[in-house]
Amino acid sequence: MKDGGGRTFGPLGTALVIIPTYNEAENIKTVVGRVRAAVPAAHVLVADDNSPDGTGKLADELAAADDQVHVLHRTGKEGLGAAYLAGFAWGMEHDYGVLVEMDADGSHQPEELPRLLTALKGADLVLGSRWVPGGRVVNWPKSREFLSRGGSTYSRLVLDVPIRDVTGGFRAFRRETLEGLGLDDVASQGYCFQVDLARRAVKAGYHVVEVPITFVERELGDSKMSKDIVVEALWRVTAWGLGERVGKAVGRRPESR
Ligand code: GDD
Ligand code: MN
Repeated sequence: MKDGGGRTFGPLGTALVIIPTYNEAENIKTVVGRVRAAVPAAHVLVADDNSPDGTGKLADELAAADDQVHVLHRTGKEGLGAAYLAGFAWGMEHDYGVLVEMDADGSHQPEELPRLLTALKGADLVLGSRWVPGGRVVNWPKSREFLSRGGSTYSRLVLDVPIRDVTGGFRAFRRETLEGLGLDDVASQGYCFQVDLARRAVKAGYHVVEVPITFVERELGDSKMSKDIVVEALWRVTAWGLGERVGKAVGRRPESR
């Protein structure tokens, strides 16, 4: 990872806050309102997977009343990774300079966004982090904290990435960083999408900065975390780690040079 020292970073363009949704009807209006109040210059893109509870329709109402709010309607539930890839593509097409990832359920507090964006002035990618000093989690059951900390630690060690919160989903990317990650071959569907992007950014030599956040467990609606999502993350992270080790071993053999 480059230390960023000595490098100058270009000015930040307009930010697009991408909010993926699946059944967030109870949360969407509140979160969009909070983003608009906290960072008035930013635009919002709701990426809805045709939520049966009508989240997409509520998002349309918000968009009709505010030309800084946009909606990407997707045909069905395809996972967080696919929703973000579609949101990033939309944001690039529309020339945003900063692409932000944020959950719809209030766990990521829009009021912390200005701090993430300030940090991005001197970084390629900023990660909102629960597991650095000053970061914390409110109202999570111990079991969920154990899973998240464990997942982060496992990923950090297996993938050799010096990041404390590898799975978090409150992030700000410079557009150029996303362009450099080679998103065309991202296959991750569930929350391991987050690990995948962090890993790619570190390996590509980008300056990645973790900023402490307070993650507040949702009060309304349900988490979409599932056993399938955990299993996908576990096997993909393990496969990436093994792939890298094999790659390094092969690369070291003189005859393969
Ligand atoms: N469009 C779309 N499609 N959105 C989805 C899907 C999907 O298949 N699955 C989840 N989402 C949306 C939710 O509606 C919510 O806005 C956000 O993604 C996060 O989903 P949650 O279900 O609330 O996640 P969580 O609180 O259990 O998990 C948190 O921790 C994970 C592990 O650290 C989040 O911060 C994740 O981003 C993070 O990876
Ligand atoms: Mn959540």
